[in-house]
Amino acid sequence: MQHDKVLILDFGSQYTQLIARRVRELNIYSEIHPFNKIPTDIESYKAVILSGSPNSVRGEDALHPELKDIRTKKPLLAVCYGAQYLAHFSGGEVAPSSTREYGRANLSYIKDNEVFFENISEGSQVWMSHSDTIKSLPTNGVLIASTTDVANAAYKIEGEETYAIQFHPEVYHSTDGKQILENFLVKIAGLKQDWTPDSFVEETVEAIQAKVGNDKVVLGLSGGVDSTVAAVLLHKAIGENLYCIFVNNGLLRKNEFESVLKQYEGMGLNVKGVDASERFLKALVGLEDPEKKRKAIGNSFIEVFDDEAHKLTDVKWLAQGTIYPDVIESVSATGGPSATIKSHHNVGGLPDFMKLKIVEPLRAIFKDEVRRVGATLGIDPELLGRHPFPGPGLGIRILGDITAEKVRILQEVDAIFINGLKEWGLYDKVWQAGAMLLPVNSVGVMGDERTYEKCVALRAVESTDGMTADWVNLPYEFLQKTSNDIINKVKGVNRVVYDISSKPPATIEWE
Ligand code: XMP
Repeated sequence: MQHDKVLILDFGSQYTQLIARRVRELNIYSEIHPFNKIPTDIESYKAVILSGSPNSVRGEDALHPELKDIRTKKPLLAVCYGAQYLAHFSGGEVAPSSTREYGRANLSYIKDNEVFFENISEGSQVWMSHSDTIKSLPTNGVLIASTTDVANAAYKIEGEETYAIQFHPEVYHSTDGKQILENFLVKIAGLKQDWTPDSFVEETVEAIQAKVGNDKVVLGLSGGVDSTVAAVLLHKAIGENLYCIFVNNGLLRKNEFESVLKQYEGMGLNVKGVDASERFLKALVGLEDPEKKRKAIGNSFIEVFDDEAHKLTDVKWLAQGTIYPDVIESVSATGGPSATIKSHHNVGGLPDFMKLKIVEPLRAIFKDEVRRVGATLGIDPELLGRHPFPGPGLGIRILGDITAEKVRILQEVDAIFINGLKEWGLYDKVWQAGAMLLPVNSVGVMGDERTYEKCVALRAVESTDGMTADWVNLPYEFLQKTSNDIINKVKGVNRVVYDISSKPPATIEWE
């Protein structure tokens, strides 16, 4: 890694990943590590940021970072909990706040000639989210900004390159947040802004070539953005030694297998399409429990993939589209040792018996960066803009047991909904959309006939990472037209409902 790096120490804030993304939007590479696992090569980081936390510095569960190799040794920016930590344990005072300190606030005072606030004016909006407040600054603390309600909104430590802010520059509502991060990282800490999608592609291609050499690599394509970008990067690095397998599990969208396969072939990828629909449907017969269905689909995938991989000779590597959020170690609220690493679930996991070495070219980047890298690689914007689609596909959108007929019905409904979103210019405004086939029949009337047919639910959500989501306020006219089209065109459906639940508490998928 020839780039300047920023270390972000995570204290469990819901915004920590946002800090990393904002820093990277400045073309500066950043990594997140738990506050209690400071990397051993700390000297390779040029600046450090302390995140917020749900914990209080006054509580018994206060999180204590070991800052001896950091503070005074390198530029340090402490955000929210970080700012309170530096105050509380270095001669200042933190107390419960008496006024509401959540939401938008405006800077009412900025110290003159502060590089930290260069190009930012009084009145600038910042985002507050804390219940404690800094009553007095730590030893050598100098006040550099206030809001109307929060006197000690930002301070620096005299004689150090240490800055602390009570508000969250990473949150979109802090309108000059990115400028503040740039002032700190570029003007104060002197980092270079050279982490770009182009440099990522160039360096990753070299790294793959060095790692894999002339070995063969197998990769499971899913039709999604991550596996596609991973494949194109690998293909650029090792060409024909990349073997892609694209499995039709019979639970894809209407015509998706054929159209995506064609697209992959058009991109020059060496890809084998395997239609295993019947095998999957057979494994699902009679299963109603969502977890059992997921397991059956996952296991079938591994079997099919393994069969196909064994037909290739001398394959030594398995490539996966794992991305950075899948590998960031999470911090438990108590700071205890329960940190876990999430496993990637898009390709069903690695079967142990395959004994392949793993190559994950997207391990270091976020989803939005994957899209930018994909654009740099010349991948069709329509493919890059596709909504997320779960590995188990329509299998977790057909509630209860799955049959070929139910798959057909849902594929038709889903196609009308998704194509409608595209036609109405709504597709790109929605983060994810799909239809659910409910295990409910209801009475209707068509012509003079009584009907007793299926009910489908449409779902469209806005989100940034799928962890939380809001249902989308789609236009009534659109819903009216879509409902009409579905009921008129899809045999077996006589009722359409729209899901108006947000996550939490309702998940995006119904199963
Ligand atoms: P939920 O339903 O948990 O979904 O709110 C959050 C996001 O994850 C997707 N999802 C999955 N993706 N394999 C996947 O690859 C799965 O088993 C799976 N389950 C849910 C879901 O579509 C949404 O984007």
